[in-house]
Amino acid sequence: MEKTINEYISGVRSILSGKDSPPLAHVRSYGCQLNFSDGEKLKGMLSKMGFGMTDAPEGAEIVILNTCAVRENAEDRVFGNLGFIKHCKKKNPGMIVGLCGCMASEEHVVKKLEKSYPFVDLIFSSSALDKLPKLVYELLSGKKRAVDTGEYNMPAEGLEQLRDSSFKASVPIMFGCNNFCTYCIVPYVRGRERSRRPEMIISEVRELVKKGYKEIMLLGQNVNSYGNDLEESVTFPRLLRALNEIEGDFIIRFMSSHPKDAGKELIDAMLECEKVERHLHLPVQCGSNDVLNRMNRRYTVEKYMETVNYLRSRVPDFSITTDIIVGFPNETEEDFAGTLKLIDEVKYDNIFSFIYSKRSGTKAAEMEDLISDEEKGSRMTRLLALQREITTREFKRFIGRTLRVLVEGIGKQEGFLTGKCSEALIVEFEGDSSLIGSFVNVKITGSKNWAVTGHIDQIN
Ligand code: SAH
Ligand code: SF4
Ligand code: F3S
Repeated sequence: MEKTINEYISGVRSILSGKDSPPLAHVRSYGCQLNFSDGEKLKGMLSKMGFGMTDAPEGAEIVILNTCAVRENAEDRVFGNLGFIKHCKKKNPGMIVGLCGCMASEEHVVKKLEKSYPFVDLIFSSSALDKLPKLVYELLSGKKRAVDTGEYNMPAEGLEQLRDSSFKASVPIMFGCNNFCTYCIVPYVRGRERSRRPEMIISEVRELVKKGYKEIMLLGQNVNSYGNDLEESVTFPRLLRALNEIEGDFIIRFMSSHPKDAGKELIDAMLECEKVERHLHLPVQCGSNDVLNRMNRRYTVEKYMETVNYLRSRVPDFSITTDIIVGFPNETEEDFAGTLKLIDEVKYDNIFSFIYSKRSGTKAAEMEDLISDEEKGSRMTRLLALQREITTREFKRFIGRTLRVLVEGIGKQEGFLTGKCSEALIVEFEGDSSLIGSFVNVKITGSKNWAVTGHIDQIN
């Protein structure tokens, strides 16, 4: 019979127990918060196996790169890093080098690793996350290379997680994506949508709040289709309402919302739940209906604006942020002008913008593209300049208000702290580092184009 995860963990522990000092593990995650959440689970399993954690690959007995495939530069960084790790392994030939995450689900990457990166001993996909103890056990027992690029299963529940923060926790509510936006690799590397059962999510959040976590970030590629694959009728707005009932002082955030599924029901739930952030990340990608259609986004600019207008009719200055792709194949100057017009109209508090990156295997990779890289770069510069203007202007609306801020860390300036308010803005103010991890009220007195500044009003 196949051993359980815990049996493999004990197996590794007993192999390692002969060592004088506890061996170290280095896990580096790239990409989105879902991947960082997987990274925390990898660390949790490694720690149970008896490894201590280290921030540096030098001196580690096991190094794992938990990779992202969303854009080419993400992949380039990983291959660059592998070069350095090869060098570390020369000094410590016993080191186990692993690559997991989204790149491990790309056939061409696995082939490349198998052919040209013989020092990579361990390759496993996100769906095979809980196979780590088994794979490490096999390697320590003499196997040369352990590979599991497994099926897109529902990841195991209850994996111990070594969280990076003691007050901010991310909680995946679903995995995979069914949308197949034509530019995007995610559905190919993460498989179809699989929702976690609501009671598992609710009990996890309850436990986290009990432990003192102050921010719960719900994660999914499209949280609005949460529950579509479950038998019971549960929707994302209902999940939000149930989580809002949990007693305690904490804030609920979530990402990402797909505009095709974000409507009145979501907004009503957000506004009725006092623990839910006063911020919506609503990735639009582009302000041209022709491009949106070719992206297979399944909404129009008008439909998107309906959601924005409904939200703003309820709360006129509600904070909205977005993602924009610049230079989708054959994006015309007119299409791009539509994007500039849209961002001017919505008045986003922040945008995350990316130059289109061709991903092999996706539909857009087959599309003709006559736009030069230079033109794409120049559009990006114009987009960023306009957004800077908008942010500088819009952030002034907070001056004079008192915002409730979760203190996240030390600011750039000496004696200053940095945190985030319900509207998801960065807030900077003077204060003592003992406040990190707690909520404070900050009276806003100034704004920059990336943050608002102020001073503590009173400590809660
Ligand atoms: N599921 C989320 C997004 C996940 S990827 C959503 O649909 O909102 C995060 C962002 O990366 C996307 O919103 C998109 O703006 C960007 N992105 C995805 N694929 C890309 C590509 N091939 N080139 C450039 N940007 C891309
Ligand atoms: Fe990619 Fe679209 Fe799915 Fe987001 S919704 S992960 S952009 S395919
Ligand atoms: Fe990247 Fe995979 Fe997330 S491709 S953005 S790490 S789901």
